[in-house]
Amino acid sequence: MSLAEQFEWFADWCVGTSPLYEEISREIADDPDLLAIAEEIPPKRGTPNILFAAIHWHLLGGANHELAEYYPTLTDDPKSDNPFPAFREFCLVFETELLPLLRNRRTQTNAVRRCTALFPAFSHVSKEVGGDPLALVELGPSGGLNLCWHQYAYDYGDAGQFGTSDFVLDSEIRSEKTPPISDDFPAVASRIGIDLNPLSIQDEKDVRWLRALIWPEHGDRHRLLQRAADVAQQHPPELRQGDAIEELPDVLAEIPDDVPVCVFDTQMRYQLPDSAQDRLRAHIESAAQERTIHWLSGHESTDEWDNAFTLDWFDGEEYEPLVAYEQHGKWIRWLL
Ligand SMILES: C[S@@+](CC[C@H](N)C(=O)[O-])C[C@H]1O[C@@H](n2cnc3c(N)ncnc32)[C@H](O)[C@@H]1O
Repeated sequence: MSLAEQFEWFADWCVGTSPLYEEISREIADDPDLLAIAEEIPPKRGTPNILFAAIHWHLLGGANHELAEYYPTLTDDPKSDNPFPAFREFCLVFETELLPLLRNRRTQTNAVRRCTALFPAFSHVSKEVGGDPLALVELGPSGGLNLCWHQYAYDYGDAGQFGTSDFVLDSEIRSEKTPPISDDFPAVASRIGIDLNPLSIQDEKDVRWLRALIWPEHGDRHRLLQRAADVAQQHPPELRQGDAIEELPDVLAEIPDDVPVCVFDTQMRYQLPDSAQDRLRAHIESAAQERTIHWLSGHESTDEWDNAFTLDWFDGEEYEPLVAYEQHGKWIRWLL
């Protein structure tokens, strides 16, 4: 896809969920000066997302420009006229400040409501291992907010509310089958994440990058991110820098042999090349010959559901679809 086509594609993706980005993205596709700036972003990082996030990051940091008047994250009464002239001017005036972000940052959106799919998935694995505490290993955790899932509470509407935290993640259950959820949270022995670029929830610039990645109209997601970061700051998980495929064997070797392992990934594998996908599968399948490993393996759903992802459950022998969820966790379907 050419750069211009990527911005057209992104504009289509924003329809109905970010009118601001939709309108701007269509205009960028026809603007050689802005496409030249976007060309600074290394390929395969989600160019439109990075460009928008870099600008949002500077605005959230207080960059003084009228573009801020169009962002619901920056004003209670955003302007509704064409935002593109202000956006274009911002890019040209702040080009030097934007370049380090464009060249170095990645799409690392940490969507904490995905924990509403992970909670029943961990509960399922926990039952499978007889309730023994799990060693959790997340591949591609970004800021690690989903490794803090047991510090949050869950509200599934009619299906009930679980947990004692005053930070509650809500989701709708859209399946006949009932997920295995209760107040009896699975026990956790340890938790570690491996990311090419772990983000620190103790670092203002990293947290601002996580905020900047969330589209400006998604006020609810901004609120959840801030609350989750506050909770996670109390007990941040260990995050290791590196390629998850290369680091996984060492991380597994550090976990005592008698502790059951649950590896999981959400919205990470789409960023891997095919060869890395094969190597990851081979690593986990071979490790499962030696010890108890369950893998909640995330991928885009191929069925009729819009914007859905699925966690497949690998129990050491077979793969089965376990839970599907809307990309940001607004609903889940239990599949087993
Ligand atoms: C879109 S974010 C998803 C974050 C989190 N899993 C979630 O669902 O909220 C994808 C993450 O995967 C990481 N990632 C991509 N390729 C990786 C690799 N080969 N090894 C480790 N992390 C990787 C990125 O750095 C990024 O933080």
